[in-house]
Amino acid sequence: PGTTAQDQVQQLCLTVQDFPRPGISFRDLTPVFSDGPAFRAVIDDLVKPFTGTFDLVAGIEARGFLLAAAVAYATGTGVLAVRKPGKLPRPVLSESYSLEYGEAKLEIHQDDVAPGTRVLVLDDVLATGGTLAAATALFEACGAQVVGCAVVLELTELQGRLKVQQYPVHTVVAS
Ligand code: PRP
Repeated sequence: PGTTAQDQVQQLCLTVQDFPRPGISFRDLTPVFSDGPAFRAVIDDLVKPFTGTFDLVAGIEARGFLLAAAVAYATGTGVLAVRKPGKLPRPVLSESYSLEYGEAKLEIHQDDVAPGTRVLVLDDVLATGGTLAAATALFEACGAQVVGCAVVLELTELQGRLKVQQYPVHTVVAS
């Protein structure tokens, strides 16, 4: 693998045709995350523009969890999992959205985030942007301040960035 996070992602990311539906090219970052130096380089790059600006880092189910936990540990902030429906035991805030391949919903507990908390939202891939838009809407509903979003890979042709254009969005690799 190369030396920069960008090189590592470009060299290790796999594209799987027709998954999970015919016509979808799935970007599989598994080999990036399972390579120690690559994962560390990606985490460092993800958080760099937001150093010192957030109190809480949120990761979107499922691969966003891995990123958010690593960032939280590296920066000393708390971490919050933004969940798929039906996983959380207490009253939730819920946000529906359409995915590149179907309908979906994200949830957090109503009282997970205090008003004014500065939140950084992480995920592995930005495709249509519905997922990040739904997650940021949940934090806005809490009265939190979304300081930005960061993803490992942005699929620019889908223009998902437009759905979160009110926030700074950092991507390690745009392709
Ligand atoms: C993928 C990816 C992002 C989302 C991006 O998640 O991990 O969360 O799609 O798509 P969007 O920008 O079009 O909304 P997936 O639905 O595969 O869920 P998973 O992480 O639980 O496998």
